[in-house]
Amino acid sequence: MMRESTIQTIADACLTARHVVVVTGAGLSAESGLSTFRGPREALWSRYDPMRLATPEAFEQDPALVTRWYDWRRQAGLQARPNAGHLALVCLERIVTASGVGFTLLTQNVDRLHHRAGSVNVYELHGSIHEWRCTVTGQSFEPPPQPFQEFPPRSPFDPRGRLRPAVVWFGEPLPAEVLRVAAEAMESCDVFFSIGTSSVVYPAAGFAEQVIARGGLTIEVNPNETPISGRVNHAARESSGSWLPRLIAHISL
Ligand code: OAD
Repeated sequence: MMRESTIQTIADACLTARHVVVVTGAGLSAESGLSTFRGPREALWSRYDPMRLATPEAFEQDPALVTRWYDWRRQAGLQARPNAGHLALVCLERIVTASGVGFTLLTQNVDRLHHRAGSVNVYELHGSIHEWRCTVTGQSFEPPPQPFQEFPPRSPFDPRGRLRPAVVWFGEPLPAEVLRVAAEAMESCDVFFSIGTSSVVYPAAGFAEQVIARGGLTIEVNPNETPISGRVNHAARESSGSWLPRLIAHISL
Protein backbone atom coordinates (compact mmCIF):
# COMPACT_ATOMS: atom_id res chain seq x y z
CA MET A 1 0.00 0.00 0.00
CA MET A 2 1.33 3.44 -0.88
CA ARG A 3 2.68 5.43 2.07
CA GLU A 4 0.61 8.39 3.32
CA SER A 5 3.64 10.67 2.89
CA THR A 6 3.89 9.73 -0.81
CA ILE A 7 0.20 10.43 -1.30
CA GLN A 8 0.70 13.80 0.42
CA THR A 9 3.50 14.64 -2.03
CA ILE A 10 1.19 13.81 -4.96
CA ALA A 11 -1.67 15.82 -3.40
CA ASP A 12 0.59 18.85 -2.97
CA ALA A 13 1.79 18.54 -6.58
CA CYS A 14 -1.82 18.60 -7.81
CA LEU A 15 -2.49 21.92 -6.10
CA THR A 16 0.62 23.63 -7.46
CA ALA A 17 0.45 22.12 -10.96
CA ARG A 18 -0.33 23.97 -14.16
CA HIS A 19 -2.43 21.19 -15.63
CA VAL A 20 -3.50 17.87 -14.09
CA VAL A 21 -4.37 15.24 -16.70
CA VAL A 22 -6.03 11.92 -15.88
CA VAL A 23 -6.41 9.02 -18.29
CA THR A 24 -8.78 6.25 -17.26
CA GLY A 25 -9.58 2.75 -18.49
CA ALA A 26 -11.91 -0.14 -17.83
CA GLY A 27 -10.35 -0.93 -14.43
CA LEU A 28 -11.88 2.24 -13.00
CA SER A 29 -15.37 0.94 -13.79
CA ALA A 30 -14.62 -2.60 -12.57
CA GLU A 31 -15.81 -1.63 -9.10
CA SER A 32 -19.11 -0.55 -10.68
CA GLY A 33 -19.53 -4.15 -11.85
CA LEU A 34 -18.48 -3.62 -15.49
CA SER A 35 -16.06 -6.08 -17.08
CA THR A 36 -12.54 -5.11 -18.07
CA PHE A 37 -11.19 -6.18 -21.47
CA ARG A 38 -7.97 -7.90 -20.48
CA GLY A 39 -6.93 -9.90 -17.44
CA PRO A 40 -9.05 -12.43 -15.59
CA ARG A 41 -11.10 -15.19 -17.19
CA GLU A 42 -14.28 -13.11 -17.02
CA ALA A 43 -12.63 -10.20 -18.92
CA LEU A 44 -14.36 -9.40 -22.22
CA TRP A 45 -11.46 -10.21 -24.55
CA SER A 46 -10.95 -13.54 -22.73
CA ARG A 47 -14.55 -14.50 -23.49
CA TYR A 48 -15.07 -12.87 -26.89
CA ASP A 49 -12.95 -12.36 -29.99
CA PRO A 50 -12.48 -8.59 -30.55
CA MET A 51 -12.00 -9.20 -34.29
CA ARG A 52 -15.54 -10.62 -34.50
CA LEU A 53 -17.11 -7.82 -32.44
CA ALA A 54 -15.09 -4.62 -32.45
CA THR A 55 -14.07 -3.93 -36.06
CA PRO A 56 -15.89 -2.36 -39.05
CA GLU A 57 -15.41 -5.71 -40.88
CA ALA A 58 -17.17 -7.59 -38.08
CA PHE A 59 -20.13 -5.20 -38.32
CA GLU A 60 -20.27 -5.66 -42.08
CA GLN A 61 -20.17 -9.46 -41.78
CA ASP A 62 -22.58 -9.91 -38.88
CA PRO A 63 -24.29 -6.65 -37.89
CA ALA A 64 -26.90 -8.49 -35.82
CA LEU A 65 -24.29 -10.18 -33.62
CA VAL A 66 -22.24 -7.00 -33.19
CA THR A 67 -25.16 -4.72 -32.32
CA ARG A 68 -26.70 -7.32 -30.00
CA TRP A 69 -23.38 -7.51 -28.10
CA TYR A 70 -23.07 -3.73 -27.81
CA ASP A 71 -26.69 -3.39 -26.70
CA TRP A 72 -26.01 -5.99 -24.00
CA ARG A 73 -23.07 -3.88 -22.81
CA ARG A 74 -25.21 -0.69 -23.05
CA GLN A 75 -27.78 -2.30 -20.76
CA ALA A 76 -25.06 -3.27 -18.28
CA GLY A 77 -23.74 0.31 -18.39
CA LEU A 78 -27.19 1.77 -17.74
CA GLN A 79 -27.60 -0.42 -14.68
CA ALA A 80 -24.13 0.37 -13.29
CA ARG A 81 -23.51 3.27 -10.93
CA PRO A 82 -20.41 5.43 -10.56
CA ASN A 83 -18.13 4.12 -7.80
CA ALA A 84 -15.87 5.79 -5.24
CA GLY A 85 -13.13 6.18 -7.87
CA HIS A 86 -15.39 8.14 -10.25
CA LEU A 87 -16.62 10.32 -7.39
CA ALA A 88 -13.10 11.03 -6.16
CA LEU A 89 -12.17 12.25 -9.66
CA VAL A 90 -15.12 14.68 -9.51
CA CYS A 91 -13.71 16.02 -6.21
CA LEU A 92 -10.21 16.23 -7.69
CA GLU A 93 -11.49 18.29 -10.62
CA ARG A 94 -13.44 20.66 -8.34
CA ILE A 95 -10.57 21.16 -5.92
CA VAL A 96 -7.79 21.74 -8.44
CA THR A 97 -9.85 23.99 -10.72
CA ALA A 98 -10.84 26.08 -7.67
CA SER A 99 -7.10 26.59 -7.15
CA GLY A 100 -6.67 27.75 -10.75
CA VAL A 101 -5.12 24.50 -11.96
CA GLY A 102 -6.20 23.09 -15.33
CA PHE A 103 -7.87 19.67 -15.29
CA THR A 104 -8.55 17.30 -18.19
CA LEU A 105 -9.98 13.81 -17.90
CA LEU A 106 -9.36 11.60 -20.94
CA THR A 107 -11.23 8.33 -20.73
CA GLN A 108 -11.03 5.21 -22.86
CA ASN A 109 -14.29 4.09 -21.28
CA VAL A 110 -17.49 4.19 -23.30
CA ASP A 111 -19.81 3.80 -20.28
CA ARG A 112 -20.44 7.51 -19.51
CA LEU A 113 -19.92 6.88 -15.79
CA HIS A 114 -17.60 9.91 -15.46
CA HIS A 115 -20.36 12.17 -16.79
CA ARG A 116 -22.96 10.56 -14.58
CA ALA A 117 -20.69 11.01 -11.54
CA GLY A 118 -20.38 14.73 -12.30
CA SER A 119 -16.98 15.18 -13.98
CA VAL A 120 -17.08 18.22 -16.28
CA ASN A 121 -13.98 18.43 -18.46
CA VAL A 122 -14.13 14.85 -19.68
CA TYR A 123 -13.36 13.58 -23.19
CA GLU A 124 -14.20 10.13 -24.52
CA LEU A 125 -11.27 8.84 -26.58
CA HIS A 126 -13.20 5.74 -27.74
CA GLY A 127 -16.65 7.27 -28.07
CA SER A 128 -19.75 6.26 -26.13
CA ILE A 129 -21.89 3.16 -26.05
CA HIS A 130 -24.88 5.38 -25.24
CA GLU A 131 -24.78 7.07 -28.63
CA TRP A 132 -25.68 5.25 -31.86
CA ARG A 133 -25.06 6.43 -35.40
CA CYS A 134 -26.90 5.97 -38.69
CA THR A 135 -24.86 4.02 -41.27
CA VAL A 136 -26.28 6.17 -44.10
CA THR A 137 -26.50 9.75 -42.81
CA GLY A 138 -23.89 9.60 -40.03
CA GLN A 139 -26.31 11.31 -37.62
CA SER A 140 -26.16 10.11 -34.04
CA PHE A 141 -28.50 10.18 -31.07
CA GLU A 142 -28.98 8.68 -27.63
CA PRO A 143 -31.52 5.85 -27.85
CA PRO A 144 -34.07 5.33 -25.07
CA PRO A 145 -32.86 3.02 -22.29
CA GLN A 146 -34.95 0.00 -23.30
CA PRO A 147 -33.11 -2.74 -25.25
CA PHE A 148 -33.46 -2.47 -29.03
CA GLN A 149 -36.23 -4.59 -30.54
CA GLU A 150 -34.33 -5.70 -33.64
CA PHE A 151 -30.71 -6.28 -34.60
CA PRO A 152 -29.17 -4.43 -36.24
CA PRO A 153 -31.52 -1.62 -35.14
CA ARG A 154 -33.23 0.39 -37.87
CA SER A 155 -32.10 4.01 -38.19
CA PRO A 156 -34.67 6.71 -37.36
CA PHE A 157 -32.87 9.01 -39.85
CA ASP A 158 -33.02 7.06 -43.11
CA PRO A 159 -35.08 4.01 -44.12
CA ARG A 160 -31.99 2.39 -45.69
CA GLY A 161 -29.87 3.02 -42.60
CA ARG A 162 -29.00 0.82 -39.65
CA LEU A 163 -27.65 1.90 -36.29
CA ARG A 164 -24.18 1.15 -34.99
CA PRO A 165 -22.73 2.18 -31.62
CA ALA A 166 -20.75 5.45 -31.76
CA VAL A 167 -17.66 3.77 -30.33
CA VAL A 168 -14.23 3.55 -31.91
CA TRP A 169 -13.53 0.11 -33.32
CA PHE A 170 -10.11 -1.35 -34.02
CA GLY A 171 -8.89 0.11 -37.30
CA GLU A 172 -10.98 3.29 -36.96
CA PRO A 173 -9.64 6.78 -36.24
CA LEU A 174 -10.32 8.44 -32.91
CA PRO A 175 -12.62 11.53 -32.94
CA ALA A 176 -10.50 14.41 -34.30
CA GLU A 177 -11.71 16.96 -31.74
CA VAL A 178 -10.90 14.63 -28.84
CA LEU A 179 -7.44 13.96 -30.27
CA ARG A 180 -6.84 17.70 -30.54
CA VAL A 181 -7.86 18.27 -26.91
CA ALA A 182 -5.69 15.35 -25.79
CA ALA A 183 -2.66 16.65 -27.69
CA GLU A 184 -3.09 20.11 -26.14
CA ALA A 185 -3.57 18.66 -22.67
CA MET A 186 -0.41 16.58 -22.96
CA GLU A 187 1.59 19.66 -23.94
CA SER A 188 0.83 21.56 -20.75
CA CYS A 189 0.45 18.57 -18.40
CA ASP A 190 2.80 18.49 -15.41
CA VAL A 191 0.92 16.00 -13.21
CA PHE A 192 -0.38 12.89 -14.94
CA PHE A 193 -2.45 9.98 -13.63
CA SER A 194 -2.97 6.68 -15.46
CA ILE A 195 -5.82 4.88 -13.74
CA GLY A 196 -7.28 1.43 -14.38
CA THR A 197 -5.80 0.94 -17.83
CA SER A 198 -3.54 -1.83 -19.10
CA SER A 199 -1.66 0.82 -21.15
CA VAL A 200 -1.45 -1.32 -24.26
CA VAL A 201 -3.89 0.50 -26.57
CA TYR A 202 -2.63 3.67 -28.28
CA PRO A 203 -2.79 6.62 -28.21
CA ALA A 204 -3.62 6.52 -24.45
CA ALA A 205 -0.80 4.04 -23.82
CA GLY A 206 1.71 6.65 -25.03
CA PHE A 207 0.51 9.59 -22.91
CA ALA A 208 2.64 8.77 -19.84
CA GLU A 209 5.80 8.65 -21.94
CA GLN A 210 5.09 12.14 -23.30
CA VAL A 211 4.83 13.55 -19.77
CA ILE A 212 7.94 11.67 -18.63
CA ALA A 213 9.86 13.15 -21.56
CA ARG A 214 8.89 16.65 -20.41
CA GLY A 215 9.80 15.97 -16.77
CA GLY A 216 6.24 15.91 -15.39
CA LEU A 217 5.12 13.89 -12.38
CA THR A 218 3.51 10.56 -13.34
CA ILE A 219 1.36 8.30 -11.19
CA GLU A 220 -0.21 4.95 -12.04
CA VAL A 221 -3.10 3.40 -10.10
CA ASN A 222 -3.56 -0.26 -10.95
CA PRO A 223 -3.46 -3.44 -8.84
CA ASN A 224 -1.43 -5.08 -11.62
CA GLU A 225 1.76 -4.19 -13.46
CA THR A 226 1.58 -2.64 -16.91
CA PRO A 227 4.17 -1.63 -19.52
CA ILE A 228 4.41 1.85 -17.93
CA SER A 229 4.73 0.70 -14.29
CA GLY A 230 8.52 0.82 -14.30
CA ARG A 231 8.56 4.24 -15.97
CA VAL A 232 6.22 6.29 -13.75
CA ASN A 233 7.30 8.17 -10.62
CA HIS A 234 4.75 6.46 -8.37
CA ALA A 235 2.82 3.23 -8.92
CA ALA A 236 -0.06 2.56 -6.52
CA ARG A 237 -0.73 -1.20 -6.60
CA GLU A 238 -4.25 -0.62 -5.38
CA SER A 239 -7.77 -0.42 -6.71
CA SER A 240 -8.85 3.02 -7.90
CA GLY A 241 -11.92 2.88 -5.65
CA SER A 242 -9.72 2.77 -2.57
CA TRP A 243 -6.65 4.80 -3.63
CA LEU A 244 -8.40 7.83 -5.14
CA PRO A 245 -10.46 8.64 -2.01
CA ARG A 246 -7.17 8.49 -0.03
CA LEU A 247 -5.72 11.09 -2.39
CA ILE A 248 -8.74 13.34 -1.90
CA ALA A 249 -8.44 13.06 1.89
CA HIS A 250 -4.88 14.43 1.58
CA ILE A 251 -5.85 17.23 -0.77
CA SER A 252 -8.68 18.53 1.34
CA LEU A 253 -6.82 18.31 4.65
P1 OAD B 1 -8.08 -3.30 -19.97
O1 OAD B 1 -9.11 -4.33 -19.70
O2 OAD B 1 -7.08 -3.58 -21.03
O3 OAD B 1 -7.26 -3.02 -18.63
C1 OAD B 1 -7.91 -2.81 -17.41
C2 OAD B 1 -6.85 -2.54 -16.36
O4 OAD B 1 -7.51 -2.21 -15.16
C3 OAD B 1 -5.95 -3.75 -16.05
O5 OAD B 1 -4.59 -3.35 -16.15
C4 OAD B 1 -6.31 -4.13 -14.62
O6 OAD B 1 -5.18 -4.57 -13.88
C5 OAD B 1 -6.83 -2.81 -14.08
N1 OAD B 1 -7.80 -2.92 -12.97
C6 OAD B 1 -8.68 -3.93 -12.72
N2 OAD B 1 -9.41 -3.63 -11.65
C7 OAD B 1 -9.01 -2.41 -11.21
C8 OAD B 1 -9.39 -1.56 -10.13
N3 OAD B 1 -10.36 -1.90 -9.28
N4 OAD B 1 -8.75 -0.37 -10.00
C9 OAD B 1 -7.76 0.00 -10.86
N5 OAD B 1 -7.37 -0.76 -11.88
C10 OAD B 1 -7.97 -1.96 -12.07
O7 OAD B 1 -8.85 -1.93 -20.21
P2 OAD B 1 -8.34 -0.61 -20.96
O8 OAD B 1 -6.93 -0.33 -20.64
O9 OAD B 1 -9.35 0.43 -20.68
O10 OAD B 1 -10.93 -0.35 -26.76
O11 OAD B 1 -8.44 -1.04 -22.47
C11 OAD B 1 -8.14 -0.11 -23.46
C12 OAD B 1 -9.00 -0.35 -24.66
O12 OAD B 1 -8.85 -1.70 -25.09
C13 OAD B 1 -10.49 -0.21 -24.42
O13 OAD B 1 -10.93 1.11 -24.48
C14 OAD B 1 -11.09 -1.05 -25.51
C15 OAD B 1 -10.17 -2.25 -25.43
O14 OAD B 1 -10.04 -3.00 -26.56
C16 OAD B 1 -11.78 -0.60 -27.79
O15 OAD B 1 -12.73 -1.34 -27.69
C17 OAD B 1 -11.43 0.15 -29.02
